[in-house]
Amino acid sequence: MSKSVTYDRINKIYDAKGKNPVHALKDVSFTINPGELFCLLGPSGCGKTTLLRATAGLEDITSGKMYYGDVDISTIPPYRRNIGMVFQSFALYPHMTIFENVAYGLRVRKVDNETVKKKVTEVMELVGLQEELKRNPSPTGLSGGQQQRVAIARALVYDPDVLLLDEPLANLDAKLRRYMRAEIRRIQKATDVTTIFVTHDQEEAMAVGDRLAVLRKGVVEQIGTSDDLYSYPENAFVSNFIGKMNFFESTVTDVGDDSITVNPATTDFQVQIPITRCHVNPSKGDHVLLGGRPEQLSVSKEHTPDSVKGRVRIIQHLGSFIRYEVEMDERVSPVTFEIDMDFLDKNIRESDDVYVSMKKERISLFSPEGREI
Ligand SMILES: Nc1ncnc2c1ncn2[C@@H]1O[C@H](COP(=O)(O)OP(=O)(O)OP(=O)(O)O)[C@@H](O)[C@H]1O
Ligand SMILES: [Mg+2]
Repeated sequence: MSKSVTYDRINKIYDAKGKNPVHALKDVSFTINPGELFCLLGPSGCGKTTLLRATAGLEDITSGKMYYGDVDISTIPPYRRNIGMVFQSFALYPHMTIFENVAYGLRVRKVDNETVKKKVTEVMELVGLQEELKRNPSPTGLSGGQQQRVAIARALVYDPDVLLLDEPLANLDAKLRRYMRAEIRRIQKATDVTTIFVTHDQEEAMAVGDRLAVLRKGVVEQIGTSDDLYSYPENAFVSNFIGKMNFFESTVTDVGDDSITVNPATTDFQVQIPITRCHVNPSKGDHVLLGGRPEQLSVSKEHTPDSVKGRVRIIQHLGSFIRYEVEMDERVSPVTFEIDMDFLDKNIRESDDVYVSMKKERISLFSPEGREI
């Protein structure tokens, strides 16, 4: 039976009594469902590994409680937590055959030989290495992707309650990474073991996870499915970390019951955003961000009353769409816009002046607070 994992107000302060305390996890509270493939996502240093190590019991927490199912495991030592773990560096034992690498967790549990053989064979089939097992080389005789599979098999062989994966694909080349994403999903769904997958790669997290938690500086910013996070980001940080969001620096000119009206910097037009797409509660005169995803903006040579002037830096043909990188007036946006069009406008060349328009029925409003990644 798969188990849920619950975090209840977890705090972790490294070097709490020293000169340089680091508050690595701040009041982290959420529940991972039984059998769920859950991704922890966030920029470097946001606390992903700390939370994973705390889940395994390898890191003490400063305060809070942690549960597997309804059992409080906060003070249970790591070797009694029945956890499978795969680290970024696979750390297989080079002097052992792949059979013995995978069997290791069963050997320390004093499982009889016959069961070991059966379990190792089963799990190697699950990860697609049945042929390699017949040869049974040392791990150095395997490719990167195969070694990764051995590491996953080794973590799964003793039926852990929870599987923890810390950047497991980081050492693989781009193509293999994409292939292994799907493999990890397949293997996880076949075993139904509750799994936490850590990555700082948003595309990977969106492709792999049933649900994702976005962390920033030790704080959980938002939890949801890939679609929740992409389509309904709650703040500027999540919106620009899960995919790209282009921000127009703007000023609030009117706050109504059903909508908020803003004026984008350098322009003399107004944009009215329905309250359902406003992720900020501003007053008149406040500085806010009008956010449009690359596909929610367009570029044209034609000036319209509600377009904003920019200059094309780079045009990239990306197969099914064309990406225009457009430099805006510093007051509109200090960073370059990315605008995706599904056709190539032959009139527009690099270095040309263009006009950027928004698909008003899609764009959203955010607070500028904490937007930096
Ligand atoms: N042993 C430690 N002592 C002191 N500070 C630490 C220790 N381990 C981590 N930290 C700090 O805690 C914060 C979170 O670190 P953590 O390793 O959890 O980040 P991460 O999200 O896994 O980052 P990355 O994507 O780079 O692996 C960072 O500021 C880090 O410097
Ligand atoms: Mg880490």
